[in-house]
Amino acid sequence: MSRQIPAALSMDGKRAIVTGAASGIGKATAIALADLGAELVLVDLSAMDATRDEVQAMGATCSVMQGDLTDDAFLASLFAGPRVHAVAHCAGILMRTPWDEDPNWNERFHRMMDVNVRVPLQITQAAMNHMGEHGSGNIVLVGSVAGKTGGTSLNTPPDYSASKGAVHALVKWMSRKAISKGVLVNAVAPGPVETPMTRGNNMGPNLPRGRMGKAEELAWPIAFLCTEGAGNMSGAILDVNGGAFVG
Ligand SMILES: NC(=O)c1ccc[n+]([C@@H]2O[C@H](COP(=O)([O-])OP(=O)(O)OC[C@H]3O[C@@H](n4cnc5c(N)ncnc54)[C@H](O)[C@@H]3O)[C@@H](O)[C@H]2O)c1
Repeated sequence: MSRQIPAALSMDGKRAIVTGAASGIGKATAIALADLGAELVLVDLSAMDATRDEVQAMGATCSVMQGDLTDDAFLASLFAGPRVHAVAHCAGILMRTPWDEDPNWNERFHRMMDVNVRVPLQITQAAMNHMGEHGSGNIVLVGSVAGKTGGTSLNTPPDYSASKGAVHALVKWMSRKAISKGVLVNAVAPGPVETPMTRGNNMGPNLPRGRMGKAEELAWPIAFLCTEGAGNMSGAILDVNGGAFVG
């Protein structure tokens, strides 16, 4: 017997921006939101043909905006069109070369903070202003277990861990600002997940489950936070880490 998606979880008639949509968690989130009926706006630096083809094959309406989110004009343009109901901001970076041997450390540090901290703040601010005009909206950021623990191992570079700790702090700050406009700001804090970001770094055997997370296992909690089902959640950082950290 087929059943309809419950209204509280349906994204029918809703427009959702997914950043980082070319790859990993962002791509999986776009697919999960398409499954819930959302109209999608895919955003990434890289080409998103594979994601677009997949969500269109599922019947979703989908547009693509390729560009660099550190470019303020590009970021602002995401909110220049029709009403956006949800933003799942999954774009992010991790440089895995040893930071203390990196001759370009300063440059790398500033790039990390630009992409992983300033952009989440800017996109939350822009989305909040846009959604606030309509009285509601859901914004979801992606932190990390590294932002809570410093990292699952010393292989996690300190600039990355610090950037994710900052994301958690700004979710708390922005959620308090946004709630009076009817806008909900939340995040997930993933443990290690198999994506291009972690390729070749198999932490699975050292994790409580004996394996890393899958992108879909992050996508569904993120998609849930985009729905009315999460209607009273504000400032939450959901641990989605397969038991890698129980805080
Ligand atoms: N994979 C993990 O183990 C893990 C764990 C914790 C948190 N996270 C976080 O989850 C999020 C998604 O990571 P992922 O594992 O899917 O990585 P990924 O590398 O597969 O995907 C990240 C995407 O972000 C895009 N991106 C990067 N900088 C951008 C910019 N300036 N403008 C537009 N797009 C940009 C990339 O092109 C890429 O497609 C990131 O914030 C990451 O830090 C990942």
